[in-house]
Amino acid sequence: MRLFLCRGWDTTNLTESKFTMSDEVASTSKLAIVIMAAGKGTRLKSNRPKVLHEIGGKTLLSHVIAAASRIVPPTDIYAVVGHQAEKVKAAVESTGVRFAEQTEQRGTGHAMQCAREAIVGYENILVLSGDAPLITSATLLALWSFHQAQHAAMTLTSAEPADPTGYGRVIHPSADSPEVTAIVEQKMLSPEQLPLREVNMGLYAFRTAPLLAHLEKLTSDNPHGELYLTDMAHVLCDAGERVVAFRASDPGELLGANTIAEMMALDASLRLATARRLMDAGVTIFRPETCVIDADVEVAPDTVIEPFVQLLGRTRIGSESRIRSYTVIENCTLGNKVLIWPSCVLSESTIADGASLGPFARLRPGCEIGEDVHIGNFVEAKKAKLHQGVKAGHLSYLGDTEVDEGTNIGAGVITCNYDGVHKHMTRIGKGAFIGSDSTLVAPVSVGDGAYIGAGSCITKDVPAGSLAVARAHQIGKEGWASARRARMKAKKEPPASQA
Ligand code: UD1
Ligand code: CA
Repeated sequence: MRLFLCRGWDTTNLTESKFTMSDEVASTSKLAIVIMAAGKGTRLKSNRPKVLHEIGGKTLLSHVIAAASRIVPPTDIYAVVGHQAEKVKAAVESTGVRFAEQTEQRGTGHAMQCAREAIVGYENILVLSGDAPLITSATLLALWSFHQAQHAAMTLTSAEPADPTGYGRVIHPSADSPEVTAIVEQKMLSPEQLPLREVNMGLYAFRTAPLLAHLEKLTSDNPHGELYLTDMAHVLCDAGERVVAFRASDPGELLGANTIAEMMALDASLRLATARRLMDAGVTIFRPETCVIDADVEVAPDTVIEPFVQLLGRTRIGSESRIRSYTVIENCTLGNKVLIWPSCVLSESTIADGASLGPFARLRPGCEIGEDVHIGNFVEAKKAKLHQGVKAGHLSYLGDTEVDEGTNIGAGVITCNYDGVHKHMTRIGKGAFIGSDSTLVAPVSVGDGAYIGAGSCITKDVPAGSLAVARAHQIGKEGWASARRARMKAKKEPPASQA
């Protein structure tokens, strides 16, 4: 069984798809997926390859690969790459997919010719576009199942969008027939064909033997001088093979992006779908249209997301937490009952249950914030490990620092971790008290239960249980200020005789 959904693969999207694979589909033989991703995307007017533009926090191509990977193992997925091929490969090679090279981009039919070697050992292939990122595994399975049932050589996916302009139109021999005799691209439409509304959505299934037997019959006899994969419809039909159309249940899923504006429309709909997925799972999101939530974000039930929050990358948030407005969280893991006050910026860090941060707190990468830790306003931390119950309420910088349980960090405490060349660690023990406005010049350690007097500049280790004060002595001069003021006043006012 090549088509598989075995344990160990991420099948999360399948629960959403509600697809149950029939035995008939499960027992089918070798299937590969080809993703056409070699095009330049001229209409984007961008130097970045089209398939590496991002929506929902991931490249277009990685969305398509994610859907394909739920149908076949990555080693049976072939991305056809060409324009900036090295960049495209580097961006997705960690997924384990394979590549076919199309050095010159001479059209979608030519892209398939370039994948010939790759697909020759498979009985069937699905062909996807790298620029249509909303595709789901459910739709791929539905197409696959239809293709099998129809015993077709080619199955194309069709729909009737409100405006069919720009798409290839599907020609049937008679109304109501699933059979197809040709796909006609926009520029080739005859006046009688112009009103046709059923369009080719660019997602196909092929039986490999007839495809490869007739693939070289494609010609570039069209306004672009390209080899069109769509021409395989009439080539196969003329060769007596069966070509059929599969009607997409949700054509919105198959939309491609040819311009930045179209891409941003896909981004908006993907993000709203992500917010809806989270809300369906018990998360409260106020004004979801104002939030920027990436596709892979997970949030547990009873957590509240306020307006204008950004949750990015692989962020995970537990239950009964609250993320207040204007906070940006990227690649962080938050526990349960965590409270993030407004305007925090948190990156690549973990925050345990019951912690509270902000407003205006910043975690740079590598922080581990323990249970019930409180980090207040204008505190910045980097590679800081704060154990349970640590409090740093105001205006601090904690970098390359480990602070043990229950220690209190006063307002304005700074760890001086950088000597201009190297970074150094500051270690503070349990239940210590670091007075306000102290600077701790690393490498330095403060023992359990020690006290640091406010305003100290600590350069030597402080033993457990001791007090360290390192500041200038205060002197007092009684009457000095009033005497000075009197002198100043006397200088300013002219003598009485001149008045
Ligand atoms: C294609 C179809 C059209 C269909 C539409 C649906 C053709 C000729 N036309 O048009 O019938 O209605 O999709 O969106 O196929 N690519 C390559 N190598 C190439 C050219 C393209 O890999 O030489 C890739 C692109 O990167 C892209 C995909 O193929 O991911 C589709 O190409 P694109 O130029 O966007 O085709 P459309 O004009 O959208
Ligand atoms: Ca396209």
